[in-house]
Amino acid sequence: MRKNIVAGNWKMNNGLIQTKTLITELKQQKQTSDAEVMIAPSFTNLWHAFEETRQYPIEVVAQNMHFSDDGAYTGEISAGMLKSIGISTVILGHSERRTYYNETDEALAKKVDTALSQEIRVIFCFGEELADRKSGKHESIVENQIKKGLFHLKADAFKDVILAYEPVWAIGTGETASPEQAQDMHAFIRKTLANKYGQEVANSVSILYGGSVKPNNAKEIFSKTDVDGGLIGGAALNAEDFYAIVNAF
Ligand code: 13P
Repeated sequence: MRKNIVAGNWKMNNGLIQTKTLITELKQQKQTSDAEVMIAPSFTNLWHAFEETRQYPIEVVAQNMHFSDDGAYTGEISAGMLKSIGISTVILGHSERRTYYNETDEALAKKVDTALSQEIRVIFCFGEELADRKSGKHESIVENQIKKGLFHLKADAFKDVILAYEPVWAIGTGETASPEQAQDMHAFIRKTLANKYGQEVANSVSILYGGSVKPNNAKEIFSKTDVDGGLIGGAALNAEDFYAIVNAF
């Protein structure tokens, strides 16, 4: 069955010193929920974070990777490089990467294939913009992103795929989707999966919500049937806030 997961996406925050401090603080927090906990520091701090959390129930994951195994791609990081330092999960398709670095559905489908072929789990992100929601196109936009990024996969591959619905208008804005909006979309996502792969696969995939999840709203959002956790930005940079969210289950 699907798991509850809370993943902290640190984005482009925290140098080595801040990373050390935050990890020390994270290790001091008490976990009272059964959620899988993940943190995604920047590439330069992955190794340190991995080493420091070895004995703790915190998985260190990457924020991105390239679709090629190696070669002349200056500034890029491959799946093999991530694996070589013990990383076994990667976030792909975050809206900031889609928007600022023109990551297309096609490129993301290739990244998904590369990650899975190297036995790296994927947290696949998608979500609509405000204009899409206002014009009632949010479901078709999300359906399209999922189909183009993932529907070439065989059913069996979904054991290594986690979905993250992040409405762009809720990211870093302080405005969250209401728990009902999140539930409606998550149920729609699960139905989309079920239509293609069957109910068993759909029920086995964790679907996270991301977008201004904070200690004061996490409980209500996570209480919804089809919400299996969160992808947390700003609140993941503070150890107490992050664990208040982890423990909101
Ligand atoms: P915020 O929690 O800061 O809105 O960020 C959400 C996000 O983009 C996580 O990937």
